[in-house]
Amino acid sequence: MRRLVIDTDAGVDDAQAMLLAFGHKDAEIVAFTTVNGNVDVNKTTANVLKVLDLVRKDVPVYRGCEKPLIVEPHHASYVHGEDGLGDCGIPASIRQPEKKHAVQALIDLANENPGQLSLVTIGPLTNLAVALQLDPDLPKKYADLTIMGGAIYGKGNTNITAEFNIFVDPEAARVVFERWSMIRVLSWETTMAYVFTKSDLERFFALNTLKSKFFHDTSQIILNFVRNRMNMEILFAPDGLAVAAAIDPSLIIKKELHYMSVETGGIQSRGFTYVDWWDSSGKPANAEIILEVDQKRFVQMMEDGLR
Ligand code: BDR
Ligand code: CA
Repeated sequence: MRRLVIDTDAGVDDAQAMLLAFGHKDAEIVAFTTVNGNVDVNKTTANVLKVLDLVRKDVPVYRGCEKPLIVEPHHASYVHGEDGLGDCGIPASIRQPEKKHAVQALIDLANENPGQLSLVTIGPLTNLAVALQLDPDLPKKYADLTIMGGAIYGKGNTNITAEFNIFVDPEAARVVFERWSMIRVLSWETTMAYVFTKSDLERFFALNTLKSKFFHDTSQIILNFVRNRMNMEILFAPDGLAVAAAIDPSLIIKKELHYMSVETGGIQSRGFTYVDWWDSSGKPANAEIILEVDQKRFVQMMEDGLR
């Protein structure tokens, strides 16, 4: 049984990743922490509560940082909708988040369950960077850390070189990469290679469950975006893949261990996650960079989550 804490800026693909996790027999979700990202933190928190309504689970949700460490928020409503869930009318929940701040929760959960929890971040790294400031020993207290973030070859999706989660708060990302001893990284380029195809989507939609209807309705905005921009009928699922790899690392087929960190200067280089591919810096590897996964099993995990 993998016990997870998920830090999220939910987000259409974040919500789908939550469904995948809830549908997995070997995953227990201990808590959600929320952060500014795709939309503001009040909306990302509200969205996690909406998904809990859908799956009828009581998992504590801790509201986190509303701004990046230094810069102003940069949102992605053009992809996720104004509400962050595709503007398809998912009703608000009457559930409330916990009173405790997400940063304090990340620290307390680790102290209460030393070495037992897997942390997965599928949004900007602001909460985790602040938690590391308060408790530099945090990396020793989590079993592992998986991040959806970074563009390992510089093929970004926000400025030219940066992936969104890193771009939104590059300083926070740098703190995390420089202080966490080993991070499993699901980069934008890797996750782009494992999308849901048209036939996967048709199968998901045909399940005809409340969860598959939610998946269908929230996805339309991104499907339109991809159709218009790329003339393709596919759905990106970066956060789902990160959560899947955290739950079941045997999904990973190919990985490399290297030193990796974050460029915070420049305009097009701000938020670029550089990788020491040739290990020439002499710095110890801090990243397990995932390069290939078992696509069939990933799609099956998503389908299980929609049943
Ligand atoms: C990441 O950015 C967000 O828009 C998605 O939810 C995902 O976490 C992909 O770059
Ligand atoms: Ca996300």
